[in-house]
Amino acid sequence: MFKRFRDRRKDPATRLKFQETFLSREDFILPLFIVSGRKRKEAIVSLKNISRMSIDYTIEYIKKLQEKGLRSILLFGVPDKKGIEQAYDEEGIIQTAIREIKQSLQNIEIITDVCLCSYTEDGHCHIGENDATCEILAKIALSHAKAGADVVAPSDMMDGRVYYIRKTLNEHGFVHIPILSYSAKYASNFYGPFREIAKSTPKYGDRKTYQLNYANVEEAMEEIEADIDEGATMIMIKPALSYLDIIHRAKERFTVPIYAYNVSGEYAAINFLVENHLAKEEIVYEVLLSIKRAGASKIVTYFTPWILEELDEYQ
Ligand code: PBG
Ligand code: ZN
Repeated sequence: MFKRFRDRRKDPATRLKFQETFLSREDFILPLFIVSGRKRKEAIVSLKNISRMSIDYTIEYIKKLQEKGLRSILLFGVPDKKGIEQAYDEEGIIQTAIREIKQSLQNIEIITDVCLCSYTEDGHCHIGENDATCEILAKIALSHAKAGADVVAPSDMMDGRVYYIRKTLNEHGFVHIPILSYSAKYASNFYGPFREIAKSTPKYGDRKTYQLNYANVEEAMEEIEADIDEGATMIMIKPALSYLDIIHRAKERFTVPIYAYNVSGEYAAINFLVENHLAKEEIVYEVLLSIKRAGASKIVTYFTPWILEELDEYQ
């Protein structure tokens, strides 16, 4: 006797009947890069279909994608000149963007990146000292909450930043604003295109003194546990594709929602395969599904516009 597995695979309808994991439009979060001014749209070669846009163009773009089912965005501010004060300025790029998006559109969740790397002269995510950086990060998060952000997402990897942010938000009456903490952010080589578009490439050194060593699993679990203790509502694992084991283990170990960031280098690598006819476009569905299968409840990805358009072709 042997089992007839191929009976489950004989045609598309049967395969779908036996399919264990599905994607849905609610799973996806689109990262957006905002610049000051009006009618600005700046593309970079390495991030196909992604541009830095001014707020007016960003709103038009979101509106178009909302018709396809977009629910959630992650905002990154890219200032023209460096200077950390802009990161918590009430009239800063992100604070203004949050207010204008909320005024113009309904039913869009705004998650904001809380970090300094686009604002510091040296492109690092800190100002040299850990706790002093946390104080600034808390100010940034507070300014986003005041402007109307739905969720704040610290991506800096300083120790204790969730503690500082939670405390500051609570003291100012924002107890209900969730923190999506990048708990397990690895010092990865997959961030190149992002650094180009966000103008956040470190001028010297690397981020290995604050981001996780990619050889470590248990340390990532400790980071997640610490962030939950400090008040994180959801946690992010980043990158996604070389880190599916981390997503899976976090899912088994913790009950908080697990987000995964399918980063810029992963996006570029997959686009390379498709553009050079080395893979069918279906590869995009495959990788996004694999992230969900590993245990992610939400996926931050530059493929969001693609999946919103194409999802029905695959399931
Ligand atoms: C920095 C930050 C990075 C990304 C998001 N926030 C890059 C880095 O750590 O240098 C990467 C995202 C991507 O590659 O798409 N705080
Ligand atoms: Zn940063």
